[in-house]
Amino acid sequence: MALFSKDIKTLEDLYLHTLRDIYYAEQQIVKALPKMIDKAGNSELKDGFTHHLEETKGHVERLEEVFRKVGEEPEGVTCPAIDGIIKEANEIAGDIADKDVMDAALAAAAQAVEHYEMTRYGTLIAWSHELGRNDCASLLEETLKEEKAADEKLSKVAESRLNKAA
Ligand SMILES: [Fe+2]
Ligand SMILES: [Fe+2]
Repeated sequence: MALFSKDIKTLEDLYLHTLRDIYYAEQQIVKALPKMIDKAGNSELKDGFTHHLEETKGHVERLEEVFRKVGEEPEGVTCPAIDGIIKEANEIAGDIADKDVMDAALAAAAQAVEHYEMTRYGTLIAWSHELGRNDCASLLEETLKEEKAADEKLSKVAESRLNKAA
């Protein structure tokens, strides 16, 4: 059953809703990354996406563990934010013929995804502590660390592209 905003009364409700939101988002990212791997020309970018696809599958599993810990069935709820980020990335990438520009667009889109994930996990970690769920917080911290590392790697790829162009 989807949780509608009128059903969100307590912080626990909001926490569960946000877990479902990021659970849906991670699943969409698992679907989107293979297409990004195909489109990437730069081998560092391709490898980075491939590595993060495996990590992202782990993020889905880690969320399932968090659901279990709070006694809920793992269930997603449509997240219009991640749908929008992925849709925009697909639209832009569809219009680009130049390989280097395509890589720049893919890296930028991926960073938008990482930043969305980072903000969600940051919030969920804070709420886990507030709700006395330090066990959930530690699991979510592990994922947040990987999101941050993926974002930093993308920044480095973007930098090396700029240095090459200079
Ligand atoms: Fe993730
Ligand atoms: Fe990510």
